[in-house]
Amino acid sequence: MKDYILLFLILLFSSNLFAENEITIESPSGNLTVNIKTENNRLVYCSSYKNEHIINYSNLGFVLKNNDSLCFFRILKSDKVSFDETWKPVWGQYSSIRNNYNQLTLHLQDTRKNRFLDVSFRVYDDGFAFQYNFPEHNPEVIIISEESNYSFSENNKCWWIWADYNTLEKLYNNTSLKEASHVATPFTMKTAKGTYICIHEAALDDYSSMTLKQDLKDSLSFKVNLVPWADGSAVKTSAPFKTPWRVVFISSSAGGLAESSLLQNLNEPSVISDCSWIKPIKYIGIWWEMHLGISAWAMNSGRHGATTENAKRYIDFAASNGIEGLVVEGWNTGWENWGAKDAFDFVTSYPDFNIREVVEYARSKGVEIIGHHETGGDIVAYEKNLENAFSFYNSIGIKYVKTGYAGPVNPPTENHHGQYMIRHYNKVMRTAANYKIMLDVHEPVIPSGLSRTYPNLMTFEGVRGMEWNAWSEGNPPSHTCTLPFTRGLAGPMDYTPGIFDISEQKFADKRVKWNGPDTGKTSVHSTLCNQIALMVVLYSPLQMAADLIENYENHTAFKFVSQIPATWDDTKVLDAKIGEYIVIARRKGNKWFIAGITNENSRVISVSFNFLDKNKTYTLNKCFDSENAHFENNSIEYVMSRETVKSTSDIKIRMAEGGGFIMILD
Ligand code: NOJ
Ligand code: CA
Repeated sequence: MKDYILLFLILLFSSNLFAENEITIESPSGNLTVNIKTENNRLVYCSSYKNEHIINYSNLGFVLKNNDSLCFFRILKSDKVSFDETWKPVWGQYSSIRNNYNQLTLHLQDTRKNRFLDVSFRVYDDGFAFQYNFPEHNPEVIIISEESNYSFSENNKCWWIWADYNTLEKLYNNTSLKEASHVATPFTMKTAKGTYICIHEAALDDYSSMTLKQDLKDSLSFKVNLVPWADGSAVKTSAPFKTPWRVVFISSSAGGLAESSLLQNLNEPSVISDCSWIKPIKYIGIWWEMHLGISAWAMNSGRHGATTENAKRYIDFAASNGIEGLVVEGWNTGWENWGAKDAFDFVTSYPDFNIREVVEYARSKGVEIIGHHETGGDIVAYEKNLENAFSFYNSIGIKYVKTGYAGPVNPPTENHHGQYMIRHYNKVMRTAANYKIMLDVHEPVIPSGLSRTYPNLMTFEGVRGMEWNAWSEGNPPSHTCTLPFTRGLAGPMDYTPGIFDISEQKFADKRVKWNGPDTGKTSVHSTLCNQIALMVVLYSPLQMAADLIENYENHTAFKFVSQIPATWDDTKVLDAKIGEYIVIARRKGNKWFIAGITNENSRVISVSFNFLDKNKTYTLNKCFDSENAHFENNSIEYVMSRETVKSTSDIKIRMAEGGGFIMILD
């Protein structure tokens, strides 16, 4: 009997020991650690980076329909695997990417019901991520809330936009963590010791997108808050299924965040086996003229921009200036019924726009036409016409489509960033892939790296972009110095830079106010050099030079724009402070492009070229702000010069207030 009791106690102790024992998983170099354990049957994790505590013990789990909590677990088994591979993206910031991590998978049993859940942690040198897997067959899983939590260890400085279930087009706040109550992701912060952290998600497919809500009792703690369906539930699905990855980027420098390929690595490889038809391009557009109010989208305005004649003019300019594509907005009927249901059928051209003639003309000049599907938010109508719309473009030789969702979602009860819309966006992505069409999604849900799996999903707006400078108080210079470390971490951005007529005065007499926030005092808040630099700084595989061609024709600085590629072999952030400035170097073949932008303060930057080939002398052509340039009153003055440099060279370059520069080395 005594022996029996002793054995029982040992078993109890050892099973308890297993449950309360921490399991540690380290990144390949050992600089990043994640610890996981159960504490009173709650599964919790914490993380340290280079011996600094980043995240304190934080909860995991779910609340399902009928207040059914899936939060109390026993660990049945754990598996560890290591992974190391180098893969080649179809386009991006690098020609090859290393995917190297250690993974821990915990097989959990719910202590209250006989059911199971798996959680996997992947730990990289530049961050970590976790994902839930509901492994058992279940025809209906309704998630009311995901309980994943981030309990930060101190009151970090952070950069964030307010969570909004319908738009991402906002300016950033820079506050302490305690002052950030409900935020969208990517949510970026810096610890007192100078470690940078950013929270986002990867592989968002048939789930709801996440925001982060501060805990009312603990202002350093943020819980995942999923954008709900109309009936209040967060996710409606069936099992087995896996959630998106909950991603934590971590780096010792701001630049390290922007250089990370964590999001791409956490997505599945391409399901499109032959990607030879997918090509990054630079493009111009019959676009800015509408935003300025010089012309209009609707034909009955009497100021129609998308005419055959105007398109041919733009195609001619593109063909002779190294621009590979042209987007034409307002080509199809429906704009006169803006806001009405079924306004657009996505296939009928206005009578003054002969789409076949335009596409044929473009083809003869080696220029791609980027088609346009503006839905006005009418998802019901778009889904009804989707096959037809893509099949039509495919049949006439259009390989790129810009989509747009400017307007309240129809069905009106659904949120723009909820699961209903994620299903929709991903359906459009898959339909486009079937028709070999590449996408530029405006008013998207926040990107999550799905472009690795569907490389035809090229670029996204989802940012307060250039258009705001045409009809609102605009974007301050600090905005674009913040984006590479916040929204930019979610993936490519169709910010649409490259405005040369900064004051927007050239055609002032032709402008008609069309948008409420327009006070009649609009302008771009940067210098001209800053605008060129943005085309290198803000990555997009469809990169726009957004101004009217009248403002580019015969402009000596445009030769810098002509040379900028839309995909890169290598990327290095040379220097940066979030919201203040960034200097980035990107390589395509043997050519390096170095670009810098600054906020409302001028500054002198030193650039050392130690990353260049040691045995080569390079010709450096640069375009930079003139001494008196200033984004407010002297925005278009610039200087161009040429010199030679080697890997041992160092140069100093000044950026004006709201200014920037570009250097091309070959
Ligand atoms: C908003 C988009 O961001 C913009 O690029 C487009 O021109 C308008 N909607 C009209 O579709
Ligand atoms: Ca927009």
